Amino acid sequence: MRYAHITGWGAYTPPRIVTNEELSHLVETSDEWIVERTGIKTRHIADAEDHTSTMAIKAGREALKVANLDPAKLDLVICATSTPDYLMPNTASLVQDGLGASHAGAFDLNAACSGFVYGLTVGAAMLKSGLYKNVLVIGSEAMSRVMDWTDRTTCVLFGDGAGAVVLEASDEPGGVMSCRLGSDGSSADVLKVALGTRVPLNPLNMVNGNGPYMKMSGNEVFRFATKTMNQVTRQVAAEAGIAVDDIDLIIPHQANQRILATAAKQLNYPIDRIYSNLERVGNTSAASIPIAMIDALKEGRLHAGDHLLMIGFGGGLTWGACLVQWSYSPEDRRWSSYKRTRQAMRMALAGPRRWAGRIERGLDFWELRRRRAERKRTKKSGG
Ligand code: COA
Repeated sequence: MRYAHITGWGAYTPPRIVTNEELSHLVETSDEWIVERTGIKTRHIADAEDHTSTMAIKAGREALKVANLDPAKLDLVICATSTPDYLMPNTASLVQDGLGASHAGAFDLNAACSGFVYGLTVGAAMLKSGLYKNVLVIGSEAMSRVMDWTDRTTCVLFGDGAGAVVLEASDEPGGVMSCRLGSDGSSADVLKVALGTRVPLNPLNMVNGNGPYMKMSGNEVFRFATKTMNQVTRQVAAEAGIAVDDIDLIIPHQANQRILATAAKQLNYPIDRIYSNLERVGNTSAASIPIAMIDALKEGRLHAGDHLLMIGFGGGLTWGACLVQWSYSPEDRRWSSYKRTRQAMRMALAGPRRWAGRIERGLDFWELRRRRAERKRTKKSGG
């Protein structure tokens, strides 16, 4: 029997912090309204240097360090995002290159705010099937780039950031125990960023508030989120053979404190065991669960052997939950100076490895052109 354990974790939030007060100069809102209706006080916003891929690389590096894993040993990089750097190439490939994960496959996964839980489900299944040994699952989002900064109903809610986990296969029982994913595409319009091949790439589409910005029906999302948290938590706990009360900590998607409070009531589950860092980071979509999980770890809220439920919901509509038996505390992952130096060396070597690949491709191309020119010359001279 193979199990999928979380052996490394890392998060990155951009340094720029935007307060509610700052937003009240942009749109007609107030700190009081935002705190009362959402629980959010600040969010991190990426500057021009940070993108979905660069934030993912920073979080991924940290996760590899905690796992003490050579990036060249990764089999797969999954990047959950709904704000990719480009439509093509995929963001995960940029991350794979940035990390020097020279033997890894890479793909993006878009399930909006449920993306990280979808990624964890896929990654764990690949390890349990025996196909792979080490998978990096990242949730990374530059939500600020798809915000309409004149729309007070959305721009106050979201923030940017990335969170990553290393999943490793092992015979040791524990790790990702049961997962459940769901979708209801009939409600696709409830939460949408209309940028894609259905939207002609025409500058006229960018004016009069019709740009590729987030549009949301907040009340509908609210109802869907509370219903989903209640149903899926019960489902996944039953599948794992434990009672809801046996879940030591729930790490939900960080959307709104009132959603979490309503779900706690419906589940008859203590709100102080539903982790929230919303106040500090707002809604970072696919990045929110791993960022929250790492904050919970730092605060000493997670211990080896604990049952942890991660639950996501968002655009699609999509939802998903994973029940995890937590394997390691941060103390278990504090490496000796010898191991830390080795890991630093591996990470430092990742850069030259990437460049060596580029130089090799350049040389191959140069050789190809040289041979072509030589063939042409031979033909011309009649030989
Ligand atoms: N500041 C001040 N007033 C605001 C505001 C803001 N930032 N945003 C909306 N309002 C106003 C509305 O315009 C409305 O005014 P009106 O009564 O004059 O028309 C009033 O506040 C109430 O709006 P309503 O939408 O009913 O508020 P709400 O209590 O439902 O809260 C949300 C709105 C968006 C905070 C809430 O619906 C929510 O959090 N939904 C879930 C959203 C979410 O989590 N999305 C991501 C999921 S992944």
